[in-house]
Amino acid sequence: MVVIGRADRMTRDSLAIAIEALSWMAYEGIGERTALFRAAKQLGVEEAGELRQANRLIMETARFRNRLDSVVAIAIGGNEIKRTAHGVASFLRILAYLKYVDGASRKDLLRVVRWARDILDWRELHPFEKAIALLASGTVVMHRADLSEFDRLALETCHPVWFVERTIRVFGRDFALRMLHRNLSRLPSYIRLNTLAISNADRAMKIAEQIKGSKVPKLDGIWKIQKPSDILTGTNLIQSGALVMQDLAGIVTGLVCSVKPDQSVLDLCAAPGNKTSHLAALMNNRGEIYSIDISDRRLAHWGSEMKRARVQIANAIRADAAETPIQRKVDVVLVDPPCSNTGVLAKSPSIKWRITPARVNEYAAKQYSILRAAANHVDSEGTLVYCTCSILPEENEFVIENFLRRSQEFEVVPQTPFLGSPGLRGLGQCQRFYPHLHECNGYFIAKLRRTD
Ligand SMILES: C[S@@+](CC[C@H](N)C(=O)[O-])C[C@H]1O[C@@H](n2cnc3c(N)ncnc32)[C@H](O)[C@@H]1O
Repeated sequence: MVVIGRADRMTRDSLAIAIEALSWMAYEGIGERTALFRAAKQLGVEEAGELRQANRLIMETARFRNRLDSVVAIAIGGNEIKRTAHGVASFLRILAYLKYVDGASRKDLLRVVRWARDILDWRELHPFEKAIALLASGTVVMHRADLSEFDRLALETCHPVWFVERTIRVFGRDFALRMLHRNLSRLPSYIRLNTLAISNADRAMKIAEQIKGSKVPKLDGIWKIQKPSDILTGTNLIQSGALVMQDLAGIVTGLVCSVKPDQSVLDLCAAPGNKTSHLAALMNNRGEIYSIDISDRRLAHWGSEMKRARVQIANAIRADAAETPIQRKVDVVLVDPPCSNTGVLAKSPSIKWRITPARVNEYAAKQYSILRAAANHVDSEGTLVYCTCSILPEENEFVIENFLRRSQEFEVVPQTPFLGSPGLRGLGQCQRFYPHLHECNGYFIAKLRRTD
């Protein structure tokens, strides 16, 4: 059990937001962040501390969901949680989380139960009083002896059975289980100094001194931080654009593109623009970047990010990356297509309960069609970089293999920096990141060069 022991800091409002958000997630299949903000708005709560507490409850309840559901099923005497009203089911999951994962004290649990009686309709809650008493007293005993091997591992690692099977098949049992276990706790965050927003070296030094994190070896101006709040010492350096939060593997992708000032870049699937702003900084705001994304909403976000990061050379185009309206060829094309996000399950745990094998195949088909279209825009001797935050070969090595089979004018080339592990299936020059090995999102990067 992971004992975090912070139920004493919970408030009634944070519980109310968490119940509401988890209910939206179950009802509409939305992610943690969207659900958190929707619930907070609905309940009129704005205080940062309340939102932080609610966020933690939502994230952790989503992370351990299958295990919590099995405890709740025993407490309610049957597998009826799916038929239980969303609000009550969310509360029972939270209670199971607080008792069985967080190790909350009896006193804190009783306070939480009192709040729940106040937040939820008592008529809905009344039939579950016995289950609540069982959960709060910790007397529910799980029997796993009669489970199949994969069912047992799914409960132990808190992932869907199909995903446990798939990762064990691809990576081997020991590697897969270490990776799945790493998804049960949060990953560190990373920040990079944005040279476009910092006018001189002295100021950069002063900012660097304020960062309570460790410098990432071999990379300039990149820090690993355990808690995002650690970087906000007095001034809001993120708000001013001086620092950009971006995962390590995403930062490495920007560097692997090896762009230079005055080059032309096509940035496909670009929003919200983390990589666009990094590339613009590496190009010293000289040259041109065409950033294409299909989503108006995400491009609006891209626009505010470019402003904040002081990017002057990027232009947004709303289009399908598989049919870009761009006619010309460029020096570097970056393809960062939609994917299963199976590399970010430590940061966004609810994804694992939404993704299915069929969705993975759909993503793979879309990724291949975007990569094929991207290739038409690469100039002679130009560079094509493909990345995903998926750990599954179907979205990575298989896509590259299929592409190379039909595009013999491209070859895979080495990457600098190379901080990850080699790609699978003999694609050793591709780079993979894994949460348990590299302390960042699971990720894949392929770098190709046009040789004709
Ligand atoms: C992994 S995210 C991109 C992250 C971005 N490159 C960054 O570094 O901030 C994938 C993006 O692909 C976009 N997208 C999905 N399907 C697309 C398509 N057919 N054409 C263009 N963009 C698409 C989504 O709107 C989403 O913004």
